[in-house]
Amino acid sequence: MAGVELKQLKGRFTVRQQETPLFSALMRHVQGKPLQYHVPGHKGGRAAWSGLLEAWGDQVFAYDLTELDSLDDLHAPGGVIREAELLAAAAFGAQRTHFLTAGATAGIIASVMACCKPGDKVLLPRNVHRSVIAAVILVDAYPVFMQPEFDDLAGVYTGLVPQTVEDHLRAYPEATLLVLVNPTYHGACGDIADLVDCARERGVPVLVDEAHGSHFPFYREFPPSGLAVGADLVVHAVHKTLGALTGGAMVHMGRESRVPERRLRSALRLVHTTSPSYLTMASLDAARMQAVTRPAAQWSHALALAHEVRRAASLTEGFLPHPPRFPRPGYVAQDPLKVVLVSDGRWRGQDLARALTGLGHYPELTGDNHVLLVMGVGDQASAKDLVNALAMVVSVPGPGTGTQVSCVPKTIPPVAMRPRQAAFSQWRTLPLEKAGGLVAGEMIVPYPPGVAVICPGELITAEMVGFLMDLLSRGHSAHGIGPPPDYLVSVVEE
Ligand SMILES: Cc1ncc(COP(=O)(O)O)c(C=O)c1O
Repeated sequence: MAGVELKQLKGRFTVRQQETPLFSALMRHVQGKPLQYHVPGHKGGRAAWSGLLEAWGDQVFAYDLTELDSLDDLHAPGGVIREAELLAAAAFGAQRTHFLTAGATAGIIASVMACCKPGDKVLLPRNVHRSVIAAVILVDAYPVFMQPEFDDLAGVYTGLVPQTVEDHLRAYPEATLLVLVNPTYHGACGDIADLVDCARERGVPVLVDEAHGSHFPFYREFPPSGLAVGADLVVHAVHKTLGALTGGAMVHMGRESRVPERRLRSALRLVHTTSPSYLTMASLDAARMQAVTRPAAQWSHALALAHEVRRAASLTEGFLPHPPRFPRPGYVAQDPLKVVLVSDGRWRGQDLARALTGLGHYPELTGDNHVLLVMGVGDQASAKDLVNALAMVVSVPGPGTGTQVSCVPKTIPPVAMRPRQAAFSQWRTLPLEKAGGLVAGEMIVPYPPGVAVICPGELITAEMVGFLMDLLSRGHSAHGIGPPPDYLVSVVEE
């Protein structure tokens, strides 16, 4: 295309991207001071509790609307929601984008449903979010887990090496989906271009869970998005790193997606609420506009602050430098806005987090030997204080971790039955300590890092019981394990 034409196209793109069709339609509607003979029951705030009105103001309620003719319908968009979704698709580099108000979780479940039928095999890294496993249970698919690489400093999984994916694609040519995570919760990125290529060469669709990387398409120093390297489906939890309200997410079809849109839309209708929050949808529209039009200087400023915190930590006694030098197998880049503060063994993550919180700094996540800070535009005011707080906190001696600890087991338990079969079997509950050798009925997901260590249908090995008892004794909790002293778990009745 000629240079002039390209420039015009770019110009038109930028002008349209400054618009917020959904938010603007809501604003027009609210300005008309409508009388509401429709849901929701707070009637635009007129029937809301005074305490909420006092704290939040009445505009929150005025904008919390429902599917009126001028406001379109998320499940069959043909008006302002469609316009907003088309702008989002152009902005993120997708063929088509669907808004979600039920989190990335809804997009992930719908994506798996769009690609798989009962009995199909899905290739997935062991560190997938629990929503992927939920999808596998709902579809009655057969998960083939792949072991990701490991960040020995923080004790968490990183990404897959292409060889692992290639080996599995060769061993399971019938697989109907490959799931990738880009980045992990802690910001680790594998070689997403290579990983996507492996599957495309074999005609297997790729779903990239980019819940923590919605910002990737918007600044050159971020690692590449799955959308830029040919993934079929990409899910963004826009609320996590861009300016959308909690629950605001998007599922995108890649430019060359081989997944039929009808399938995805139909799956979304099965799993997504029929009462999507207009506040959340409008915030998605605004977050897209803001991300596209944000001056590069704001991103570079955020990156500089994150870098400053990372550097200050590396120069402070008690902290190990993180991330390690790149490239490493399965770990070729770190999201620069995820700062992992790693202990050299002299302090515990819980103690650092408590001390930081005491000073008014709230981290995202705490591991035994690390604390994760999710940084971004808007942190300007507090980054310097944070650096000072770090130095202050570690200067006070406390109990250390002793040895380096891992939040995830390095082995995948043997499979006894399909996850759906186990999830819908008769269960009995018994103390974790007595569950060795039995088949799990439920997922067991320690927090942090929120990755399932046991899936329904897997054998609870003696080694796994030991691993979990050790975690619990260190004060961690896990979804799927009841409270102390019994620590009850659900197992499949034999
Ligand atoms: C890797 C990953 N994927 C998906 C999700 C689900 O996102 P949401 O909470 O928006 O449903 C999470 C949530 O933390 C996550 O960490």
